[in-house]
Amino acid sequence: MDDISVVLASNRGPVSFTEGPDGFETKRGAGGLSGAVDPVARRLGERAVWICATNSDVDRAAAEDPDVVDRAGAELGYGLRMIDIPHETYARYYDVVSNRMLWFANHCLWDELDIHDFGADELAAWSEAYEPVNRRFAEEIAAVGDDRSLVLVQDYHLATTPRHLRELHPNQTILHFTHSSFCGPKGLAPLPDPLPRNIIEGMLGADLVGFHVHSWASGFMDCCEDIGAKVERDAGRVTQDGRTSWVRTYPIPVDPASLRERSQNASAQHWKERFANFRPDGGALIIRADRAEPSKNIVRGFEAYGMLLDRRPELLASTRFAACVYPSRASMPEYQRYMESIKEVVDQVDRRHPDAIHLFMEDDFDRTLAALTEYDILLVNPIMDGMNLVSKEGPCLNEHDGVLVLSTGAGSFEELGGHAIPIEDPLDVEETSRQLELALSLSPDERKRRASGLRDAAQARKPGDWIGPQLEDLRAIRSSGEPVTSL
Ligand code: G6P
Repeated sequence: MDDISVVLASNRGPVSFTEGPDGFETKRGAGGLSGAVDPVARRLGERAVWICATNSDVDRAAAEDPDVVDRAGAELGYGLRMIDIPHETYARYYDVVSNRMLWFANHCLWDELDIHDFGADELAAWSEAYEPVNRRFAEEIAAVGDDRSLVLVQDYHLATTPRHLRELHPNQTILHFTHSSFCGPKGLAPLPDPLPRNIIEGMLGADLVGFHVHSWASGFMDCCEDIGAKVERDAGRVTQDGRTSWVRTYPIPVDPASLRERSQNASAQHWKERFANFRPDGGALIIRADRAEPSKNIVRGFEAYGMLLDRRPELLASTRFAACVYPSRASMPEYQRYMESIKEVVDQVDRRHPDAIHLFMEDDFDRTLAALTEYDILLVNPIMDGMNLVSKEGPCLNEHDGVLVLSTGAGSFEELGGHAIPIEDPLDVEETSRQLELALSLSPDERKRRASGLRDAAQARKPGDWIGPQLEDLRAIRSSGEPVTSL
């Protein structure tokens, strides 16, 4: 990778700022994306610049002084730029468009959340906030890179940045990578015109459009067909207005060595002991660990456990459910309501079956690592999920031949499904409760066999396997017009 320079662009950056007694301090950026991209940038060092948005008032204050941001970049070992976006614009770009319209579209959550129409406010948020922010990103990328730089644009917050950048630099080599699921035409259809077309055309401004797994690549190609682009599915080639974009999958791996190392620290060890004590003697500990997020389907997971205990109350003596569910996107009413529903369903189950579920609701990564080390059953039942790293991290860390109960809606099902207890329809509480029951009934030998298969599958791809092929494909596209990987 010696001869390349890379510009990375994402909404959340590698760090955010807090105010300490001696001025601004940095803390690690939240979310899976920054954890995945940061090692890439570190490896590239001076040849990488990461452009992100200010995500809070403290970020905005820090970004006023370029030295503060430069110093944070120097500590990270690569270039860092923060685009200062005023609070009001940010709320419309992030809450209204990115998280309400695009996230729900990518996960087909319209029926789930009973959202069926959009009005003038949403359209205005698109044209007055989302598009200007995406254009700002394109301008900043054009300013820091040159025609030879490889540009890696991340996620649905920046769906139209590739097209804006293409207008500024027609010969730029651009990747757009979606970290979430991509449901397809059914997801985009409820959005007001011209958004569905603008989103797909925006992404097609890139030479390479990346997803974690085939289902999402396929959903995207369905949308390309819908807007009249020529789609060669087997080749993963989309042609529109005389330009070609390649669609590829790059399933994101986890880094077991660094997870294991972190799980040794004092706080994780303390939690490990607590979870071990929480397991009934000779019984089973059921764990879930997620952001409080409607697409993660947390409420139905608890309902399913409640239904299982209703059917077989004697299981209360030999099972416990502990959940690490931390708040997310708390400024949005849908997420506030979801947090409430989680608490309500846990109360309901606990009223019927005292102390059956223990709910932890603060973001504590050490506690989550400990829970993953200790589970007998890990429940991962999303409606749709780009990859779901927890389902990979769990099998790498677990010390109890734990069983993974995994919904087919998780991207990781493509790699792990053969060793998991599947949930075919994550909306079906009855099926989920039956699959939990099945997981509880497996013999020690069967558990061992599955756990070892899961561990191998979850570790089959190494950390560098995610970005390496993306950069190789981009380089090949830049020199010969075609990627080296196939779909
Ligand atoms: C998903 C997205 C990421 C994002 C994360 C947390 O995984 O794909 O881009 O980092 O959610 O969401 P947030 O809104 O807190 O950035």
